[in-house]
Amino acid sequence: MPRLSYQHVFEPGTDPSAPPLLLLHGTGGNEHDLLRLGRTASPGSALLSPRGDVVEGQGVLRFFARLGEGVFDPAEITRRTHALADFVLAAAVRYGLQPLQLMAVGFSNGANIAATMLLLRPDALGGGVLLRSMLVLDQPALPGSLAGRRVLLLNGTTDPLVSPDDPARLAALLRAGGADVKTEIIPASHQLTPQDVAAAQRFLRP
Ligand code: MLT
Repeated sequence: MPRLSYQHVFEPGTDPSAPPLLLLHGTGGNEHDLLRLGRTASPGSALLSPRGDVVEGQGVLRFFARLGEGVFDPAEITRRTHALADFVLAAAVRYGLQPLQLMAVGFSNGANIAATMLLLRPDALGGGVLLRSMLVLDQPALPGSLAGRRVLLLNGTTDPLVSPDDPARLAALLRAGGADVKTEIIPASHQLTPQDVAAAQRFLRP
């Protein structure tokens, strides 16, 4: 069997009614970081958790490069987004998952690549919970490409990394494709809180 392109963890699901989750860690994290969050937010879900393959500085892992804080190369983001989407499609075949049922749960850099996957590769993702996402690619989804997809954007009131306009701007880019986007702004900074876990749970297992 060919090797899948991203190092990853896969945990099979135990509840067929629970959506499979694509877990995408933040900068400096790894494929183990969000397993507990995934298990708590949606018990019984299959979990697919890749490790970011871009290395910044001394072994800091990410899913696309950063030229400075909040400064990105759109061509590089696009290339990395397609690479991750291709991995997801190959992993879905390997593990028997339906890509359009797959819900991303991404944090920070992981939430940002979940957003660009939805915008550029709606064939590889069914929706998701994007925790502390920002706008990294100012490109609307193609009309109709995200019809029927549910997305929750969870941001914090005192997050120094995310501009206050970003959640609404990202929501508009996703809605251009027909996605059903909910934004929740909670009293928090960039770090996750129990409120995030509860909101993700309500969204994933209504
Ligand atoms: C990013 O680079 O994706 C954002 O700045 C979030 C982060 O990873 O710090």
